Amino acid sequence: MTICGLDFGTSNSTVGVVKNNQQTMVPLEQDTDGDWQTTLPSALFFDFEDDQISFGRRAIGRYTAGERGRLLRSMKSLLGGSFMGDKTQIKNRFYSFDEIIGFFVASLKSQAEIFNGADAPPLESVVMGRPVYFNDTDPTLDQAAEDHLADIARLAGFKEVSFQFEPIAAALDYEQQVTKEELALIIDIGGGTSDFTLIRLSPERHGQLDRQHDVLANHGVHLGGTDFDRRLSVKGIMPEFGMGMPLTDKPGLNMPGHYYFDLATWHKIHLLYVHSVLLELKHFRPVVSDKNRLDKLLELLTHRKGHQLAGLVEQAKIELSEAPEAVVNLESLFGDSAEVTIDNCTLTQQQLQQSLQNDIEKIFSTLDETLKQAGLTHKNIDTVFTTGGSTALPMVQACIDAAFPDAQQIVGDLYNSVGAGLLMEAQLRYG
Ligand SMILES: Nc1ncnc2c1ncn2[C@@H]1O[C@H](COP(=O)(O)OP(=O)(O)OP(=O)(O)O)[C@@H](O)[C@H]1O
Ligand SMILES: [Mg+2]
Repeated sequence: MTICGLDFGTSNSTVGVVKNNQQTMVPLEQDTDGDWQTTLPSALFFDFEDDQISFGRRAIGRYTAGERGRLLRSMKSLLGGSFMGDKTQIKNRFYSFDEIIGFFVASLKSQAEIFNGADAPPLESVVMGRPVYFNDTDPTLDQAAEDHLADIARLAGFKEVSFQFEPIAAALDYEQQVTKEELALIIDIGGGTSDFTLIRLSPERHGQLDRQHDVLANHGVHLGGTDFDRRLSVKGIMPEFGMGMPLTDKPGLNMPGHYYFDLATWHKIHLLYVHSVLLELKHFRPVVSDKNRLDKLLELLTHRKGHQLAGLVEQAKIELSEAPEAVVNLESLFGDSAEVTIDNCTLTQQQLQQSLQNDIEKIFSTLDETLKQAGLTHKNIDTVFTTGGSTALPMVQACIDAAFPDAQQIVGDLYNSVGAGLLMEAQLRYG
């Protein structure tokens, strides 16, 4: 029986396997420098010329290079939502979202099997990660999301499929370095969700299968890096494309906001590329206060550059973790032949802070609720362990520092802790 841990993330995915008796994170893809990375960005590109599907960095690269096709990212966000059972048209075929996630999970499995070697048997048993809530308010949709993911994994060829909460998996990874009993708060802020676990860890407990009594609380909220990108885009970039501009024929009314919210939301961008939406937008041209802004929007949508714009905004957010300002190179989106005037746009740390303030408050109030669930206060926590790409945000770090001045702070491997813990869980359950 061969086993693995699989972290299907909103932004990045990882797989852990046992190779030569060693727990190993699978090198899934080479980056542009030729270095193997253990993360595969959760992206697919359906190429309309050769009908091939690419995954990860390669998918994003082909889309960015302007190849004709459809890019899909943040597919995990659809699980637990009202679009979960829907289909989407890609070229001349309709695919269910489960089918599309299935292609991605199958590619992770196959990459891990190639890494295991031609003589190794196929992977049969998997522990998959799941956020504490796929849906914050509806337990039925939450369970349905897990059921969908289990079906997807079975269709991809796994025979045994079970789940562990992502922050608990991260806790098991961290526990390897714990030398005495401690009460740890695990904070995992990724691309889609912010998840928390309060758990008692110790060297003696490590490796026990049943940890139910050690988990004092699990909680989470459906907010993460892709929401931060959306907020930053709406605040700092969408006005460049006409969001909020007055309509001259309707005093007091502005350009409808929904086009811009969709353009700032990964899984809705393609809805704007359809002909009828372009026609609708063109009708606004005689009545907008700044025609160049609307023309920029039309040019962007006509050339299907919405995902690329979202990628630039995400990049700017990441740069703002370290620099006071980041330039969003809008010029790079439009060729020299563009008939509109385009200037690059500079985003500042202050804009990022203002755009994220409400989300960060919500995330940290959920963290407070986690402590309350266990009847504890910040003072009871020995260690705060952080993982997930969005914990690199200075605002997040500042909130943790302020809330836990006396706790030991350990920064985990931001991208691999969950996957490594899921593999440990798989070894306990199936090994
Ligand atoms: N330096 C940085 N500053 C701010 N955000 C960052 C930084 N580096 C990465 N991120 C963000 O981290 C997110 C990805 O993190 P991660 O890979 O942990 O998420 P995930 O595991 O795919 O998502 P989830 O667990 O929520 O499903 C992205 O939104 C990315 O923009
Ligand atoms: Mg994650």
